[in-house]
Amino acid sequence: MESISVGLLGLGTVGSGVVQIIDEHQDKLMHQVGCKVSVKKILVRTLSKDRNIYLNGSRLTDDPSDILNDPSIDVIIEVMGGIEHTRNYILQALQNKKHVITANKDLMAVHGSELLQVALENKCDLFYEASVAGGIPILRSLVEGLASDRIKKMMGIVNGTTNYILTKMSQEGREYGEVLHEAQDLGYAEADPTSDVEGLDAARKIAILGTLGFSMKVDLDDVSVSGISNVSKEDLEYCHQLGYTMKLIGIADRTEDKVEISVQPTLVPHSHPLAAVHNEFNAVYVYGEAVGETMFYGPGAGKLPTATAVVSDLVEVAKNMRLGVNGNSVILPQYSKKIKSDEE
Ligand code: NAP
Ligand code: HSE
Repeated sequence: MESISVGLLGLGTVGSGVVQIIDEHQDKLMHQVGCKVSVKKILVRTLSKDRNIYLNGSRLTDDPSDILNDPSIDVIIEVMGGIEHTRNYILQALQNKKHVITANKDLMAVHGSELLQVALENKCDLFYEASVAGGIPILRSLVEGLASDRIKKMMGIVNGTTNYILTKMSQEGREYGEVLHEAQDLGYAEADPTSDVEGLDAARKIAILGTLGFSMKVDLDDVSVSGISNVSKEDLEYCHQLGYTMKLIGIADRTEDKVEISVQPTLVPHSHPLAAVHNEFNAVYVYGEAVGETMFYGPGAGKLPTATAVVSDLVEVAKNMRLGVNGNSVILPQYSKKIKSDEE
């Protein structure tokens, strides 16, 4: 393999981070995959937009077929967001035998099983590490690091925007609306932040965690959800006086015969490790029957942490290309087993 050519869909917060890391970490990537990795074309919505990023050459297009039908492009990285149009682009990419990486939990929580099945049929990789908990490699930890164990419970702060809002409201006494705007300016929030503050983004992530951790298909409808949009500064102050910190917590709990999954504002005692997870940081507690308690912590949103997860997926794709084992990925078989048993 002389080089790996990437088509990037989206050049916003995450996309610009992906370009930056691929450009700046070329030596490390070369060492990891044994050849040059470059971004050949980039899809954006508005070509004329002023962009705070240096791009050599004219790599921008507003026509997705320039990328999806370019036979020289090996890998598609989808960081544009949205559900139906991204589903169509990814299906087209996989059918054109391109490997796909996405940070899109909205898409994976709804159409993940279909897309993974199509990837499998086309012997393509489809990785989505950045879709849950930004820079924390939680999906690979579940399906590789804890592969031998039976996961019983997962619990965590999986939305950076709401954790940022709750932190600033409770520690600095600031207003909800003002801090939400700040989280948007910092690139943590979704294009429509309603999904952050109403708990839907966290619900999508906990559905993905449940699907992978419990090796069963967890649908969004299985998750009971409430968000933080009605929480006031006074509520948070009152909690604090009683010895608690309020956090938006996602819980996935498996007992012998059922799974319970929810996202809700939860009072956490000051002494609990989750109470010390501040700002846009995330943390996921995983309890396995054999391993016992584990905890994963790190930045849950933002340009470079999220782009790190995306580019690490790219390294995995490239290694698989070198070995000729794409579509055989560690995340895929465990997930597809459930698809099979669904059909039985
Ligand atoms: P963003 O800043 O809003 O950027 C979106 C990019 O996609 C922009 O470059 C936009 O083009 C392009 N785009 C959007 N719709 C398009 C369309 N219909 N056709 C062509 N281009 C289109 O979004 P982001 O924060 O980078 O998030 C991207 C994805 O990553 C989302 O799925 C999000 O959930 C996920 N994610 C984000 C974070 C984070 O911290 N931000 C973390 C993890 C996962 P223009 O530049 O021309 O407007
Ligand atoms: N809006 C999301 C969050 C981005 O705040 O956690 C990371 O998935």
